[in-house]
Amino acid sequence: MKRGDKIGSGLYRDCFEVPENPNLCVKVQRDRVTREIPELGISVDVRMEIFLLLKFGELDLNILEYETISSLPDCLRQFTPSIVHLDEDSIMQEKSQLIMSRPRDFDGAYSRTMQEYGGVANVDFWDQVDLVAESMLRYDLFSPDIFYRGQNIIVQRDTPTTYRPVLIDTKHMGRAMFHVRQPWLIFKSERLRAFHKNLDEFKGRFHLRGERENKVAA
Ligand SMILES: Nc1ncnc2c1ncn2[C@@H]1O[C@H](COP(=O)(O)OP(=O)(O)O)[C@@H](O)[C@H]1O
Ligand SMILES: [Mg+2]
Repeated sequence: MKRGDKIGSGLYRDCFEVPENPNLCVKVQRDRVTREIPELGISVDVRMEIFLLLKFGELDLNILEYETISSLPDCLRQFTPSIVHLDEDSIMQEKSQLIMSRPRDFDGAYSRTMQEYGGVANVDFWDQVDLVAESMLRYDLFSPDIFYRGQNIIVQRDTPTTYRPVLIDTKHMGRAMFHVRQPWLIFKSERLRAFHKNLDEFKGRFHLRGERENKVAA
């Protein structure tokens, strides 16, 4: 499948336009990962698979994310992109491609990540964020990274006054990862603590009050 321009990048994957369908995007895992280790004053550059095996015990985050999304309960699946498809041919070839819908707003513009959007005042939006957080806890699918820095959540505006959160990066949900620099996250109690910390930071940074939103979003 052909890839268009790059839409965004995370730590592990790049996300591209799909030229033949503007409502879709495709995620592809990068070959290498570079991590700073400030404690040692160095930065390490390693093959992605080695890094992923150590951190997740997995080799392919697209397959992991596809499996995670496919098994979500409806109360969480409704907050993820409606179309999620793992390109079977691509798995046989060198790199898997995870195809997803690319959310748009009521005016046809592509919806932005919370990080790009800047902040939201809409009360319903924040009620839905609380619902997402409660469901993640109820089903033991919480992940400290979902709310991290607002880059894994898109703000979709269905009408000028109706907003909803879309979770675009769910690979960590319900997973215990091994963090070299935060080994204590192997314990559920510590992951819970990190989840609440990131959720509080997310709200503190992006939950705007009253008129401020238009200024930030403009
Ligand atoms: N469904 C989507 N629609 C629009 N943009 C997306 C979508 N999925 C990912 N992106 C963009 O690509 C970036 C990287 O994707 P992500 O899944 O978070 O990769 P990583 O696993 O590296 O964190 C996101 O932060 C976002 O900017
Ligand atoms: Mg991400």
